[in-house]
Amino acid sequence: MRILFLSHAFNSLTQRLLVELQEQGHEVSVEFDINDEVALEAVELYRPALIVAPFLKRAIAEKIWANHVCLIVHPGIVGDQGPSALDWAILNRQLRWGVSVLQANARMDAGDIWACCEFNMRDTTKASLYRNEVTEAAVKALLLAVARFQSGDFTPVPLDHANPDVRGKPRPLMQQSDRAIDWSRDDTQTVMRKMRCADGFPGIRDTLFERDLFLYDARPENVLRGAPGEVVARCGGAICRATVDGAIWIGHLRDKRHQHPFKLPAAMLLADEVEALPEIAPHGESGYRDIWYEEAGEVGYVHFAFYNGAMSTQQCERLRNAYIEARRRNTRIIVLMGGPDYWSNGMHLNLIEAAHSAADESWRNINAIDDLALEIINTPSHLTIAALQGSAGAGGVFLARAADEVWAREAVILNPHYKDMGNLYGSEYWSYLLPRYADAERAARIMQTRLPMGTREAISLGLVNEAFGKNVADFVARVKRQAADMARVPVIASRLEYKHKRRHDDEAHKPLQQYRERELQRMRLNFYGFDPSYHVARYNFVYKVPKSRTPLTIARHRRTAERLQRAS
Ligand code: COA
Repeated sequence: MRILFLSHAFNSLTQRLLVELQEQGHEVSVEFDINDEVALEAVELYRPALIVAPFLKRAIAEKIWANHVCLIVHPGIVGDQGPSALDWAILNRQLRWGVSVLQANARMDAGDIWACCEFNMRDTTKASLYRNEVTEAAVKALLLAVARFQSGDFTPVPLDHANPDVRGKPRPLMQQSDRAIDWSRDDTQTVMRKMRCADGFPGIRDTLFERDLFLYDARPENVLRGAPGEVVARCGGAICRATVDGAIWIGHLRDKRHQHPFKLPAAMLLADEVEALPEIAPHGESGYRDIWYEEAGEVGYVHFAFYNGAMSTQQCERLRNAYIEARRRNTRIIVLMGGPDYWSNGMHLNLIEAAHSAADESWRNINAIDDLALEIINTPSHLTIAALQGSAGAGGVFLARAADEVWAREAVILNPHYKDMGNLYGSEYWSYLLPRYADAERAARIMQTRLPMGTREAISLGLVNEAFGKNVADFVARVKRQAADMARVPVIASRLEYKHKRRHDDEAHKPLQQYRERELQRMRLNFYGFDPSYHVARYNFVYKVPKSRTPLTIARHRRTAERLQRAS
């Protein structure tokens, strides 16, 4: 079936739904919801059997919904209405929540119900819920709705708030006043809940050192204490603020009036204000920890839970040191765990944007990732596994491929391409790694396609070795079982021997340094050359400049039109 997605952006949920529908044999084209005229034009060009809105911020035009079935994916249980569905669900401590698929009509979120799917809530941020539970429920509900639509004999159920089974209700847009933190009264749990219902967007608006700021990335602190509301310490990029019964770490802040009005590490944005505060190193239960190591038997696990999967120069350097430490241990396997929401999204574009010289910082950042990749590739002592609990994008995908094996949670989405970031050439030794695991044709397809892919396709292309686990907890449990089993098998010694020999032969054939130099030569042009595409694309990404048109890579319906236009 031909399905048109009308979406505010090509976000993680939209990408996952596209992958799932395509795997079911449907053809999907995407149009960004820019205005009614453009949406109408897309419908006329594509003539879809069905329209789906995975992520919309405004109503669909009547001209469209009156003539086509339009299914809206709403991140709320049946009866829930409004733009802050998840924010309210977290703030109000709902134990169960869900996703409903509704038919668009004249009233926002009040259309007939095609399907719904519920899940248990988890203590986490809105963004993490959205990427995990909400996305899983949305996949199930949408696939069911599409099957029902195709069957032709399903009548969607009208919304009836008088029905006692309908638990949801209309709720307004959540205001900052609804989630404002009262530092003199709110306990740590309440502060965490308020922070989480606003993370990744819009953040908690608050005053710190007389500055009007938005707060993100909260983690509880178990040891430090202070007067409620007082900032008592810093740890890496985070600051620690006391509550009435404890303290929390705040990892990131945004200052709308700052020359860099986007999310930045808290201690960096407040550098002058927190300079005199005690700097603590993560220790036991205390501190803001973004890299940690655990060991079980002969397996070492290196975790790196970087906010939004972005890896700054300094984070890459610290991770490289942690990796080298892990390699010194008397273990046989090292598992690179990433974080629960992302494995890695490559260079830290916000920090690059905020740097004195974006080109210099890009150069430092890519070299720091390369240095890390190099250590992973050159690990004769251990079998290495990249375990993708969460998604990976751009350089993050190729960094994962530096490990001997890549295991991914089934639902993970990979964006193994750099070109969307202003035609970046990319590094991380991809020109060595990719042909090793995919043949030349598949390697070219991966680099050129610029499309997200699910794990099934990633396995068929050689980017991933295995995919399993319905959720993060299942995935991690199986990674640990599987890694422990692998370490016990005597064959690991011959695998390591083979690995060592292959690396040795590869190096003799063409040294890694040559791959790196060639990649970086192209990256240097991206950073310092005459073509500013990368700098423009990065600015647009970091400042979240709305797209003025849908890229042809995903707007199938516009490809033919564009070709005809060019020909005339
Ligand atoms: N640097 C800084 N921030 C990043 C980032 C990066 N490399 N990658 C993602 N983010 C941030 C986004 O700005 C967004 O921030 P928010 O919390 O303020 O909304 C958040 O992470 C989530 O990203 P989003 O784009 O909404 O996630 P997605 O799942 O829809 O898309 C990607 C995933 C990987 C396709 C997309 O984030 C992307 O293109 N990232 C850039 C990758 C890149 O080009 N890296 C540099 C080259 S190595």
